[in-house]
Amino acid sequence: MTEIFTKGMARNIYYGGGFFFLLLLLGLTLDTLRELPERDHRENITESVARGKAVWEDNNCIGCHSLMGEGAYFAPELANVYDRYGNGSEETFGQFMQAWMKMQPMPTEGRRKMPQFHLSPEQVDDLSAFLIWTSRINDNDWPPNREG
Ligand code: HEC
Repeated sequence: MTEIFTKGMARNIYYGGGFFFLLLLLGLTLDTLRELPERDHRENITESVARGKAVWEDNNCIGCHSLMGEGAYFAPELANVYDRYGNGSEETFGQFMQAWMKMQPMPTEGRRKMPQFHLSPEQVDDLSAFLIWTSRINDNDWPPNREG
């Protein structure tokens, strides 16, 4: 084998490597497109879930909270808040959310505060539906602990 690294060899590495990673990118993109519908269980996106997402966005909940790790880190992660307070029951979680949203801001000294949003009971129910749907997305069990 020759000791000299020629332009031809460099070109082969450039095109060969480029082609290899293009194929890898295409393969992974196809895999994502195939996996996503199962993971986000989009057949369960009801009208209420969609309205809840709009309430979530209009009130900028993500400005303080994270959802599946994305967002701000001022307040608790909410993709698993249903697991924390629902006790396996959508009704229990709905009641928790109604009470929680009504109680804010809490008067406790030295604790981070959540504002009062003055949402209607229907809007809070929609938020609950959205957060329940989010908690059931297959995100490889992120966050790794229930309190996260
Ligand atoms: C200005 C920051 C801020 C915004 C915006 C905000 N929150 Fe919060 N939220 C907090 C803080 C801080 C806590 C923790 C309060 C505590 O534990 O006393 C909290 C806690 C919560 C909890 C209880 C979580 C837990 O595990 O204890 C829920 C549910 C919640 N927020 C929902 C929402 C929703 C829904 C919105 C949007 C409508 C929202 N938050 C917007 C600051 C915020």
